[in-house]
Amino acid sequence: MNANPTIDGQRLLQRIAEFAAIGATPAGGVNRQALSLEDRMARRRLAELAVARGFCVYQDAIANLFIRRVGRAPSLPPVLIGSHLDSQPTGGRFDGALGTLSAFEVLESLEDAGAVTERPVEVACWTNEEGSRFFPGCMGSMAFVGAGDISGWQEMDGADGTKLADELQATLAALPEVEMRPVGHSVAAFIELHIEQGPVLERANVPIGIVTAVQGTKWLQVSLTGEAAHAGTTPPAYRRDPLAAAVEAIASLQQAVMPADPSARLTVGRMIVEPGSINVVPERVTLTLDLRHPEKEVLAAIEARAGTECRAAARRHRVEVSIEKRFDMAPGKFDVSVVEAIANACGRLDIPTMKMVSGAFHDALFLSRVAPAAMIFVPCRDGISHNEAEFVSPQNIEIGARVLYETVRELAG
Ligand code: HGY
Ligand code: MN
Ligand code: MN
Repeated sequence: MNANPTIDGQRLLQRIAEFAAIGATPAGGVNRQALSLEDRMARRRLAELAVARGFCVYQDAIANLFIRRVGRAPSLPPVLIGSHLDSQPTGGRFDGALGTLSAFEVLESLEDAGAVTERPVEVACWTNEEGSRFFPGCMGSMAFVGAGDISGWQEMDGADGTKLADELQATLAALPEVEMRPVGHSVAAFIELHIEQGPVLERANVPIGIVTAVQGTKWLQVSLTGEAAHAGTTPPAYRRDPLAAAVEAIASLQQAVMPADPSARLTVGRMIVEPGSINVVPERVTLTLDLRHPEKEVLAAIEARAGTECRAAARRHRVEVSIEKRFDMAPGKFDVSVVEAIANACGRLDIPTMKMVSGAFHDALFLSRVAPAAMIFVPCRDGISHNEAEFVSPQNIEIGARVLYETVRELAG
């Protein structure tokens, strides 16, 4: 990598440590769930840092937060960079925060260098990328590109029993001095820096992944309803046990889907058993299915198979079944011109790269519907993410931010 200083690596590392303290968990991760008190604290801190640098800060009705640095031609659509600050309940300190804080570091470095860009450069901090507390994921970026209905989400119950409307209102109100702007505006290009969240880059010993596409994701919520009964007195023939049905359906899917196709992903991440008493045959079971595949048709076939197995198991156990689709993100390809711009930046910096498809979904996939977009990945240790042990080396953090800076300089002129 050549020596020309671009971003301030020490400042960025400090920022990441500072934000990791907001919602820090004893095991070294973060619990900063979307629209929570911790999320609001992180947003406020970022807004304060931005105002201190003289940048313009604004937010929209779904609480996406934007930080703007004007260019020579302020009316031109901006180059947009950023990611998210919300985390999983037992998340890592880098998922989302690395991209958001590196994007802010790019703005600060442009300011420090007195750089005059043709286009404005804006940092976006997207609301509720994770979708763990409130379905669906990518709520902020979906709304921004017109693929989501904010009013339809208001009555949503969070996994913790809160209402989205209340938490959203409180989050907006937590930044009273920040200007409100309409949801969605034209964007010249979007680049997102993110940890890979998988083992490919580390195993290949390559510091930068240039992401060309993102696989598709479907989230299903399956509810099975039978009849509560006495664990001791109720013989099998009298049971309508939704948990027996659930475990049969899950076992069939685990045996049928991933073993048959190495690209397929099927995860039951959450299962609620009610009433949940040791000596009561359950009445209701609610489980989530996270299905992924790079090919749209195959993903649809996996979804169909999940429905078939759940309905067959429900029939065998004489329980009702309802399946609700909670998220449907089609696979998408990123824009060649932005992929090229990232590759050029790495060439100038003499950094080795490899092209790859993302196994995780990201806000960039929705942005790619309205603007040329692509992503920069950095390796994370053992490919671990959505886990408090998530770790990225300071060196890889700095390389990722430098590549983002170089790419922005090219695209923003
Ligand atoms: O689930 C995902 O793919 C994203 O990391 N939230
Ligand atoms: Mn993320
Ligand atoms: Mn995540």
